[in-house]
Amino acid sequence: MSSGPEHPLESAVSPTSTVKLRPEILALPAYKQGQAAPTGFKLSSNENPFDPLPGVLDAVDLATRQLHRYPNAAAPEITARLAEDWGVEPEEVIVAAGSVALLMQFTLAAAGHGDEVVYSWRSFEVYPWMTVLPGATKVPVPNTPDHRHDLDAMAAAVTERTRLVMVCSPNNPTSTVVTAEEFAAFMQKVPSDVLVILDEAYAEFVTDPEAVNGRELVRRYPNLVILRTFSKAYGLAGLRIGYGIGPAAVLAAARTTILPLSLTDHAQVAAIASLDRSEELHERVRNIATRRDAVWQALLEQGWDIPKPHGNFVWFPTGDRTEAALEVFRENGIIARAYLPDGVRLTIGEEESVEKLLYASEQIITEVR
Ligand SMILES: Cc1ncc(COP(=O)(O)O)c(C=O)c1O
Repeated sequence: MSSGPEHPLESAVSPTSTVKLRPEILALPAYKQGQAAPTGFKLSSNENPFDPLPGVLDAVDLATRQLHRYPNAAAPEITARLAEDWGVEPEEVIVAAGSVALLMQFTLAAAGHGDEVVYSWRSFEVYPWMTVLPGATKVPVPNTPDHRHDLDAMAAAVTERTRLVMVCSPNNPTSTVVTAEEFAAFMQKVPSDVLVILDEAYAEFVTDPEAVNGRELVRRYPNLVILRTFSKAYGLAGLRIGYGIGPAAVLAAARTTILPLSLTDHAQVAAIASLDRSEELHERVRNIATRRDAVWQALLEQGWDIPKPHGNFVWFPTGDRTEAALEVFRENGIIARAYLPDGVRLTIGEEESVEKLLYASEQIITEVR
């Protein structure tokens, strides 16, 4: 009997090569997706537990009949719709295949070798990755002890070489927000020729009136781009569509760095159909925010010291017990996301997942005690 590899490619694939490749790319960990859940609840990717909004599947179905054609990547309809919605000109709107694509485009447009990108850490794991790809330098600024951005330290980290500063509110994975007042003070300190991106992927879930809100900042700063996505509240993660609002000249530069034709017609029509259903959207968002607040209260009652969550997810600062915590969640049918060595992030998902989540969290905190 053969003792060879089970997979035909196993012996042919070598992890090393003599081909000259960029060392900083080889040193990068590959982007890790939230684990799938063969059984149990997948609360590892901050997805929306609801089905697509009414009208979305029909719109996508129609677009499917044109699959033999390239998409209209200029996206005139969704761009016009968003421009109207935000009270700006179409040139002040940029749409792409997810806000991750936009993060990459803006970084490519602004930062190269020798330039610096400042971001809070821990934050969205794409920020270090998008910085390294064009050869720029990472400047991570530690979060405050209460898991928030340290905006004073971030402003102080801006140098002559800084080309981009990322502000993430609510912050993935800690779910904390920057306040409008903090953001205004921060923008006063950052030179107006340094691009600032306010990544608001989870903005729709925010209920705190003091939190920063990109909608109130439109056209206020010549160096600010606001990023939003249809992946989270709108539940279109699988179709890949996000957008930015900002100064036309900055957006024009980012448009030149796009991966051509990556934004599909399906994503565009689904986004328009979703915008047509704002009432249902708000109802769903309210539902998740209410569930989130109830989960947070229950966790506090269990004895957890967890920052108040503002996105559709909760942060457990489990530190060196992160792997053990992940395992307890898994044993209870909950797939969580671990951020070693800091903590665990859990998405607020299906109603039925809450009881299991709280049962597991009670076990974890009891063990820690
Ligand atoms: C903070 C933040 N920004 C952007 C994104 C990317 O979203 P999209 O699906 O639009 O690429 C995510 C997704 O997890 C996120 O957490």
